[in-house]
Amino acid sequence: MRKINTFFEENENSSLSYIRELFAIEDNLLKDIRNECLIDSKPITINPEDGKLIQLLIKTSKIKTIIEVGTLYGYSAIWFARALPSDGKIYTIEKEEYNSKIAKKYFDKLDEETKNKIIQINGNAESELEKLISKNITCDMIFIDADKSSYIKYLKLSDRLVKHGGLIVADNTLLSGGVYLNYLPERITVTAQNNMREFNRELSNKDKYCSTMLNTHEGLAIAYKH
Ligand code: DHB
Ligand code: MG
Repeated sequence: MRKINTFFEENENSSLSYIRELFAIEDNLLKDIRNECLIDSKPITINPEDGKLIQLLIKTSKIKTIIEVGTLYGYSAIWFARALPSDGKIYTIEKEEYNSKIAKKYFDKLDEETKNKIIQINGNAESELEKLISKNITCDMIFIDADKSSYIKYLKLSDRLVKHGGLIVADNTLLSGGVYLNYLPERITVTAQNNMREFNRELSNKDKYCSTMLNTHEGLAIAYKH
């Protein structure tokens, strides 16, 4: 049976399309990455309006160094790199070697200036973040978009990586509803549910952060670290 959209869904779809067409335009490179994700059954990049919003945060907060946890095919890293100043850097960490290779294929198509801002790291995020800490590397923003059972671990490491006055941004913090529903949505584990609830509780701590969550489809948490 054909699904009949509610007025709200219709309205939401139309307003999103309108906003995307006017403000969050993908070039062919970004379109190609999104398509390759779709073909490979990984339709899980951030949305263009999220990319544009984070570009705005990068510019208004004068962010120079970003650490990204979860490169996937490089879609978000490209949005971010394009908003960084020419001497900006984004360290992007990916566990799956296949994903890193695909991302590199797209990064190589960027202009030299943008490409030079991106530092790819292939490995386990926890140990790679610890390596960055041991090299005394700090950042102005961390973007967490990786395994949904490890966000609290990444947040603890962020404490040592993100400067005061910096940002913590995290995707999927509504966990398909798993953080507020009293049952487990499909494909969400109890471990991920407990983890994300703790992550959000910690991030809502007013003494440490000025924070909120955007009601995007999957939830996008944004915190300013005091
Ligand atoms: C999944 C991962 C994501 O980062 C996302 O934005 C949506 C879904 C997933 O693993 O299912
Ligand atoms: Mg995500």
